[in-house]
Amino acid sequence: MPLIELRDVTKKYHRSTTALREITVNVDQGEFVYIVGPSGAGKSSFIKLLYREEKATKGTIKVGEFDLTKLRQKDVPFLRRSIGVVFQDYKLLPRKTVFENVAYAMEVIGEKPRNIKKRVPEVLDLVGLKHKMRSFPNQLSGGEQQRVAIARALVNNPKLLIADEPTGNLDPENSWEIMNLLERINLQGTTVLMATHNSQIVNTLRHRVIAIEGGRVVRDEEKGEYGYDD
Ligand SMILES: Nc1ncnc2c1ncn2[C@@H]1O[C@H](COP(=O)(O)OP(=O)(O)O)[C@@H](O)[C@H]1O
Ligand SMILES: [Mg+2]
Repeated sequence: MPLIELRDVTKKYHRSTTALREITVNVDQGEFVYIVGPSGAGKSSFIKLLYREEKATKGTIKVGEFDLTKLRQKDVPFLRRSIGVVFQDYKLLPRKTVFENVAYAMEVIGEKPRNIKKRVPEVLDLVGLKHKMRSFPNQLSGGEQQRVAIARALVNNPKLLIADEPTGNLDPENSWEIMNLLERINLQGTTVLMATHNSQIVNTLRHRVIAIEGGRVVRDEEKGEYGYDD
């Protein structure tokens, strides 16, 4: 059974803009998938449907054991618990330390303080930032902030990590560090789905490429290429 299953999914905003048109896509557990396509193609909409930030207008979506068509609002937190999400602009809480930012993701799901104390340093170690536990986000570089965001996304051991242009604000060196990290996470069994404009990354670290244009899947290739001029 695939981890992600979209069948004939259409997403319209306010009955006017059609962001996605009849998308049918499966992603298996353990895959690494790039979502590429021009600006406005529907990449972020695709991602938002997966963690129920937006609802599909038509079609069916399944993520793990969750049928998003039938999912009640009160059960959305259970879906979100099984997905880690990373954004271009990190979205860290500025008044919380690195430790507190990551711990917060465990607190909101009611984890015991004892488990939080043990798990947060572990996951910060994984992203190489255990020594910055007491720093605040504005004391970190962009690359470090994104690594904290990845630690936060992973702290509850999700099956799926989705990232919307995670290297979009980073220089090449920091972008490669983020990619090395995502690669390691994927090798440990987490499914990674990442929207990106970075042709160098897509053409070097080869993985499945799904290209979206005008809300339709126009290409879906194993170890594909970026396929656009930057
Ligand atoms: N909240 C929204 N309300 C109305 N239109 C939206 C909204 N979000 C995205 N869109 C539109 O949907 C289309 C796809 O956008 P998006 O999914 O953000 O594309 P991408 O991430 O590939 O740039 C665009 O035409 C965009 O303007
Ligand atoms: Mg986008």
